[in-house]
Amino acid sequence: MITLENVTKTYSDGTEAVKGVSFEIKDGNLCVLLGPSGCGKTTTMKMINRLIPITEGNIYIDSKDTKTMDENELRRDIGYAIQEIGLFPHMTVKDNIATVPTLKNWDKEKKEKRAEELLTLMGMDPDEFLEKYPTELSGGQKQRVGVARSLGADPPIMLMDEPFGAIDPITRDRLQDEFINIQEEIQKTIVFVTHDINEAIKMGDKVALMKDGELIQYSTPAELLAAAKNKFVRDFVGSDRTLKSLRLMKVEDAMKKSPRVVRKDDDLSEVASIMEEEDLTYLIVVEDGRKLKGWINRQDIESESGVVEDVMSESTGAAELGTSLAEGLTIMLERDVANLPVVDEYGTLQGIVTFNDLQSLIGETYTERGGKHPEVTQ
Ligand SMILES: Nc1ncnc2c1ncn2[C@@H]1O[C@H](COP(=O)(O)OP(=O)(O)OP(=O)(O)O)[C@@H](O)[C@H]1O
Ligand SMILES: [Mg+2]
Repeated sequence: MITLENVTKTYSDGTEAVKGVSFEIKDGNLCVLLGPSGCGKTTTMKMINRLIPITEGNIYIDSKDTKTMDENELRRDIGYAIQEIGLFPHMTVKDNIATVPTLKNWDKEKKEKRAEELLTLMGMDPDEFLEKYPTELSGGQKQRVGVARSLGADPPIMLMDEPFGAIDPITRDRLQDEFINIQEEIQKTIVFVTHDINEAIKMGDKVALMKDGELIQYSTPAELLAAAKNKFVRDFVGSDRTLKSLRLMKVEDAMKKSPRVVRKDDDLSEVASIMEEEDLTYLIVVEDGRKLKGWINRQDIESESGVVEDVMSESTGAAELGTSLAEGLTIMLERDVANLPVVDEYGTLQGIVTFNDLQSLIGETYTERGGKHPEVTQ
């Protein structure tokens, strides 16, 4: 656990870069430091590995005051990746990744194995890249090597300052996804600096939003979107926060479980009377257990002889469990349907998300007009 306690940084020219900031980062969590340029993110981060000395306050790692620790030891146990990458140009990819292992006197074989492992983890072929020099790499590849290097000696803590900052949005998105997967596996305690709200929401377990050296709000991404503490947070999060919160939620958060279903070979007369009695305009059709087949619409039942299969519409799309609600909504809009079946990886029906449910869910995440969380004005 990393604990910041009333941490203040005043630079020698009098600039108050960080003012009395306190928060805690749990082991295995990724904490994003977020805020506009100059708000003190990098300064806060660099005080954790003492690249910048603290003016006042304390930073503890697992209850140990970092001021009492040996500076070099401290840095060797904290991985560090920065936007400008900072790869050593005269060293191969392999030697770059092995920087800290070299400082730790690992033997040659262990270092090579580690470099191979990390490149593979970052989705780069060791045979192709280990012996290359940084100038022979693309921007995105350099960033990956930078991240691999920061993971070199398997440090429990990682500091990452806009590690994906200097690359095109598409590669960046992919690197973020890859990194989320890697983090699930390696479970490091990470401080991740960005000024990009979308990146913060996507990556963070917690987000520390700063302004002019102060910590304004420290919460989960969902809370940041749903319960902004004041106008600054709301403005920073942006007016499309509804859509942003849909990216955070999954279809299973909004779906009704066990919707009413009919089978392909059910009699139309029976189905028609169920729809009549229960005032339904459609029903989901399944086969073999609960495998999604499609829909039957009330208006398509012209004659009551025959079976469901005669008049049903084949499935017009479904979302797998784990799909974000934003993606789910996109499917609904693209296919012009108001109901989205949710299936598991085998196509078995799990539930249904309706447009109405989605609307009320979005309503619940809005709190500023007299909702659950009273607004704090500043
Ligand atoms: N060495 C320094 N001496 C004096 N002032 C500094 C120094 N380094 C940073 N500052 C100032 O401290 C404040 C915080 O800087 P910091 O680099 O922490 O911001 P940041 O949030 O990381 O910004 P960015 O998003 O632009 O990287 C700024 O006003 C900056 O000008
Ligand atoms: Mg910075």
